[in-house]
Order: sequence, then structure tokens, then C-alpha cells
Amino acid sequence: MSDVAQLNVSDRLILGIESSCDETGVALVSVPASGPVRLLSHALHSQIDMHQAYGGVVPELASRDHIRRVVPLARQVLSEAGRTLPEVDVVAFTQGPGLAGALLVGQGVACALGVALGKPLLGVHHLEGHLLSPFLSVDPPEFPFVALLVSGGHTQLMRVDGVGRYDILGETLDDAAGEAFDKSAKLMGLPYPGGPHLSRLAAQGREDVFDLPRPMLHSGNLDFSFAGLKTAVRTHLVRLGWLDALPPADDADAQRVLADLAASTQAAIVDVLVKKTLAALKNTGLKRVVVAGGVGANASLRQQLNQACQRRGIRVHYPELHLCTDNGAMIALAAGMRLQAGLAHATHDPVFHVKPRWDLAAI
Ligand code: KG4
Ligand code: ZN
Repeated sequence: MSDVAQLNVSDRLILGIESSCDETGVALVSVPASGPVRLLSHALHSQIDMHQAYGGVVPELASRDHIRRVVPLARQVLSEAGRTLPEVDVVAFTQGPGLAGALLVGQGVACALGVALGKPLLGVHHLEGHLLSPFLSVDPPEFPFVALLVSGGHTQLMRVDGVGRYDILGETLDDAAGEAFDKSAKLMGLPYPGGPHLSRLAAQGREDVFDLPRPMLHSGNLDFSFAGLKTAVRTHLVRLGWLDALPPADDADAQRVLADLAASTQAAIVDVLVKKTLAALKNTGLKRVVVAGGVGANASLRQQLNQACQRRGIRVHYPELHLCTDNGAMIALAAGMRLQAGLAHATHDPVFHVKPRWDLAAI
């Protein structure tokens, strides 16, 4: 086999495998020489039920479950697309960042398939997958744009001038927005993953009841800091006497106060995200913004950002709701767009290293 294969990208079929954390995702995309990448099929298995008993992701269990799921999911997407394994031109997989053991599963399966089929491999940056995922939506963006990347582990504002042309404008100095949701939710006794649960509880509460900090709102730069927010939530719970023993579910008054705390927490996170995004748009002079990553599914964030941007004549793009959180489609898509842009070389050499920590600006 040759060392490196420069692909002739003309309606290539790419199989994408995502296994960086607690979702196993596999997808098949069709990649023309230029023009939109087309999603043919995708399948997902979420490990949320399995990890819920532990209140968070257990890395060893995550890896073992990915092992069980990848091949059946790959069979499913091929069958749904009416394609067979030998028709696949490139096998793409998430190379990082993420849990090392979990990444190794996707990468191991991708390597095995690549070697068995004699097809090249391409390692993909998970966050680039999130960032490009709105290109699979019915309203895809055009370059350049500002991107607000809000996943479980990352909160970044970027200027995006094209595939692979990412300038970080600001990022979190400590907790990510997703972590702020998850850690506050955990303190409030909500199940893992806290973000969607906190958001649902917040819908029943009033957001002006608790005065919570908007960290770094006036810092003069585009960085974030969310660690203080969970401490403030904790302080309120201590004052209410609910830190170790949450109020019973049938105490309607107390549940209302808990919903108010959830609503106030969500409002603080959303407020900072929206205002910093508007500042990034103002600084760059760009009139288009893309929101990607799990927190991009948050209804309040979407509503606040849409309203603020509409007033300023700014277009906002999101991934389809079901592609906001981790999935294989965004990995296959990112591989396709990198190949189209001539930025990536798929390789026939098995790839034996994953990158649990990997800076998006460095790719
Ligand atoms: O992008 P993602 O699926 O995984 C990572 O790459 O980290 O993001 C997961 C994060 C979690 O923190 C989860 O609580 C949050 O996204 N999330 C939400 C919502 N849906 C998912 N946060 C707030 N509101 C939601 N509706
Ligand atoms: Zn993710």
C-alpha cells in the first residue's frame, strides 16, 4: 500500500465514526468534487441511560459500549443508504479531542475497516465536526462567519474564513458553558446530562428571581469564565438549606423556587453567550454567525440570539436540532469538506494515535 493517497474527490463515499465521549455515531456521506456534501444516512446510540446511574460519564464503560455499538451502527447506515462496505472510499473517524479510550475504539474500528478494504483513513477533529455541522442543515451558512462553539467541554468564539481557517477570538478560561449547565444541574439534583434537564426546569421558572453573576461580561475581551456561576448556585442552595437534601417533589412552593433558580442560571449563561457573540460580530464586522455544539440546542439561547441578531440584520445558522449534540454525520461531513478543500490527505497507514487534547486552531 502507498504511504499517502491523494484522493480524487468526485462523489466519494465517506463513512464517518464518532466515539469521543458518550454517543456512538456512524454516518455515510456522498462528497462531490465541489458543492454540498450530502448526508445519505446516519445512526446514533446514546449511552446516557447507562451513565445516568453514576451521575456522569464513566470512561471505561463508555469505551466498552462503543465497542459493542460501532459495527452494528455501521451495518445499519450502509443498509439504510443501500450501499455496501466495498463502495466506501474513505473511512473517517474522530481522532480527538475526547476520552482516550473511547477515541481508540472508533479509531481501531476505522483502521480495521481501512486495512481490510484497502481504503484510506482520515482522522477528524471533533470540534471541526461541530463547527461545520450547520452545512448539513436546510439553511447552510456561507463563509466568512463568526462561530460560537458551545459543547460540553469547550466554549469558543471564532472567526471562520473557510474550511481549516479558524481564528480563536475568545474562549473559556475555566468551565465551558455546557459544564456550567451540567454542574449547576447536578447541584439541583437533576439527572445527567444536566443541560437539557435544567433547560426544561427553567421553562417553569422566572429568570429574574436569583441574582447570578455574569462572569467576564465587561472584561473587554471575548473570553469567558463560568466556574464562578456554579459556586453562586451552590451558595444559593446552601442558603435555602437544599445542598445535601433537596426539597421533596410534592412541595410545590419549593419546586417553584428550584425552577426559578434553574431559570436564573440559564439566563446568566445565555446572557453572557449572547452578549459576547454580539461583541465578536461587532469587532469583526461580520454579519453572519454559526452556533454549534450541544448547548446550541438550548431553546433560550436560540431565542435570545435570534432576537438580538434580527434587530442587527445578522443571519444566524444552527445545525439541525438532532445534529447539535455528538453524531457521526458531522465527522463524515468534516472529512468530506476537508478533502474537497484539498486540506487533508487520507492515509493507507493505520493510525495508531488519538489526540485526547487537540487545539482546533492548530489543525
Ligand atoms: O457537543 P456535545 O454533545 O458534546 C461535547 O462535545 O462535549 O455537548 C454536550 C453538552 C452537555 O454539557 C449538555 O448538557 C449540553 O451540551 N446540552 C445542553 C442542551 N442539550 C445539550 N445544554 C443546554 N440546553 C440544552 N438543551
Ligand atoms: Zn461534541
